[in-house]
Amino acid sequence: MAGRNHLYVPGPTNVPNEIMRAMNVDMEDHRSPIFPNLLKPVLEDLKKVFRTETGQTFYFPATGTAGWEVALTNTLSPGDKVLIYRFGQFGHLWADMARRLGLDVIKVETPWGEGIPVDDLKQRLTADNGHEIKAVLATHNETSTGVTSDIAGVRKAMDAASHPALLYVDGVSSIASLEFRMDDWGVDGAISGSQKGFMLPAGAAILAFSQKALSRMEDAKFPRCFLDLRDQINANKDGYTPYTPSTPMLHGLRKSLELLLDEGLENVYARHHRLGEGTRKAIAAWGLGLCAKPGFESDTVSAVVVPEGKDAREVINTAYNRYNISLGGGLTEVAGKVFRIGHMGWMNDVSMLGAIAGVEMALLDNGYDIQAGSGVGAALEYYRSTAE
Ligand SMILES: Cc1ncc(COP(=O)(O)O)c(C=O)c1O
Repeated sequence: MAGRNHLYVPGPTNVPNEIMRAMNVDMEDHRSPIFPNLLKPVLEDLKKVFRTETGQTFYFPATGTAGWEVALTNTLSPGDKVLIYRFGQFGHLWADMARRLGLDVIKVETPWGEGIPVDDLKQRLTADNGHEIKAVLATHNETSTGVTSDIAGVRKAMDAASHPALLYVDGVSSIASLEFRMDDWGVDGAISGSQKGFMLPAGAAILAFSQKALSRMEDAKFPRCFLDLRDQINANKDGYTPYTPSTPMLHGLRKSLELLLDEGLENVYARHHRLGEGTRKAIAAWGLGLCAKPGFESDTVSAVVVPEGKDAREVINTAYNRYNISLGGGLTEVAGKVFRIGHMGWMNDVSMLGAIAGVEMALLDNGYDIQAGSGVGAALEYYRSTAE
């Protein structure tokens, strides 16, 4: 099909041409005397995106999933208790990893569409007066349901319970798109990946750990090798990596950081809010609802619930086959019940209107009782009235 395939899945996101060009470089010697000139500023500038001055940033040739494992295995020991709320597929997978590694997982079932219930968290931590819970695992933005949790609220609940557990946050689909404040929120481990807000191909786990988390490394009893933070720390201090990195990816990350910091993080957050809000106006105009309950709506992804008797997969198939746009599907518990529109990364009002128009055509083709132009009209009025 002529023209671009428009990528509106919630990761991987569109890679800006500037990043593509920055990655189009000859292979380099990663042991050369000038390699630190590439790595060191990248690790330093990452701190600005994670909003940490006291934490340490890391780059692993891996994906977000490995980031979960880095956090768990470098700072905890088999049998340690961890607490996680399960309200979507990614929280489910993180809990499952923790169980498979041999941690004692307290998994609290939470309705899909809601986020972390901070009052419940406070109660559980207060009740744990022996401080057996060693870490709270929090999914900041649950990509499968389009739900954003209140991490500042999580920190408040932990402080109110005077609980010393580590706070680990999955920010794979929030960091570099949604407000994220590692130091202010007392986050001990922040986990992200390259293929979402950083606007890069998949293939890098981008992480930050607090000094408190790093101080646990020597006592942690999990066997680890490739994902051992100590090897990274050793090599990174001189500007190198413990094994061969993807140098094109690092050039891409250099450019990504330039783009994010030039735009300004507050502007990045505000842009994502507008992208999300315009999408939500369109969804409401179609008479459809979100999987996210009020107050939990994500500014990077909307999971749209289809009416009883409809299969969301048909909308996704039509959108792809007829209109060359990629939407996200529903995962496990919400398979067939939702389709997901990503509004993350290198997007603007007009790219969002393209997504909304494509969805609208696919809905009409599948016999949804909606007015042609209704969603597009609602979104464009919102974008026009709020454009700078
Ligand atoms: C919230 C969240 N966590 C973790 C992951 C897993 O990341 P990866 O696929 O990069 O391993 C994803 C991927 O979409 C995600 O959205």
